[in-house]
Amino acid sequence: MTPRKIIIDTDPGQDDAVAILLALASPEVDVLGLTAVAGNVPLPLTEKNARIICELAGRPDIKVFAGCDAPLARALVTAEHVHGKTGLDGPQMADPVMPLQDQHAVDFIIDTLRSEPAGSVTLVPVGPLTNIATAFQRAPDIIPRVQEIVLMGGAYFEVGNITPAAEFNIYVDPEAAKIVFDAGVPLVVMPLDVTHKALTTKARIDAFRAMGTKVGDMVAAWTDFFERFDMEKYGSEGAPLHDPCTVAYLIDPSLFTGRLINVEIETESELTLGMTVADWWGITDRPKNALFIGDIDAEGFYALLAERLARL
Ligand code: RIB
Ligand code: CA
Repeated sequence: MTPRKIIIDTDPGQDDAVAILLALASPEVDVLGLTAVAGNVPLPLTEKNARIICELAGRPDIKVFAGCDAPLARALVTAEHVHGKTGLDGPQMADPVMPLQDQHAVDFIIDTLRSEPAGSVTLVPVGPLTNIATAFQRAPDIIPRVQEIVLMGGAYFEVGNITPAAEFNIYVDPEAAKIVFDAGVPLVVMPLDVTHKALTTKARIDAFRAMGTKVGDMVAAWTDFFERFDMEKYGSEGAPLHDPCTVAYLIDPSLFTGRLINVEIETESELTLGMTVADWWGITDRPKNALFIGDIDAEGFYALLAERLARL
């Protein structure tokens, strides 16, 4: 089986970290590079965190690029209240030694899509969509060359987590999200509707810790820290592990179910800015542009995570 070539666009973030580790542990995907974007924390921290995660995985060879440090048309909104000041609060971490690539992340995305065979590269954005949208604006010729976009973002039945109407990744840069959702690239969307069914329960975190590896200990410490905010807010028995749902889908899509529907992004109304208006019931004749995932086999997802992370 030929591994699927992917670029992970990321704003680490503890859940981003688990997504990246899952990808680096899985032969089904070939990580061509990590492109950091401003989101959970500012860009200097997201690019640094991406390098910390690669070194934790024993992969200092992975190319990490810094991208856009602010949304297309708005001031940056960050989420230190969820992820902590560093974006990876929980365990103590040493500064990374591996270098950051000199090339801008957007140029890396453009060059990679132009040089790899058309339809052979999947984009996996798990933060605000600023880098992806900027690449599409700067080089429209790459759009038909993208195999698929599998992103974490949006919400419909689960409603918003940063405002009553919007999920964080979409809310931070709604103009970028509109560009990506309207681009016509095959889109798989992992919204809060599904990620809120993949909770980090105590038993699941204990399974990470029981690995007895540095990766297991770090993931347990990150999820211990990360879950406190959501547990307090939702009264749930754990936090949704959002971003790894994208990589897990690429490894085993049978873990997920969803519907091919129309999804539009609200960019005008201050009240509902960044809302993903999902036509789940097919009420409109708007184009069906997204496979909108609504359900997950959570036990299977965590079994996959535990099995793969134990390999690192
Ligand atoms: O709303 C959840 C998303 O926002 C996740 O990608 C998390 O890492 C944050 O970026
Ligand atoms: Ca993220």
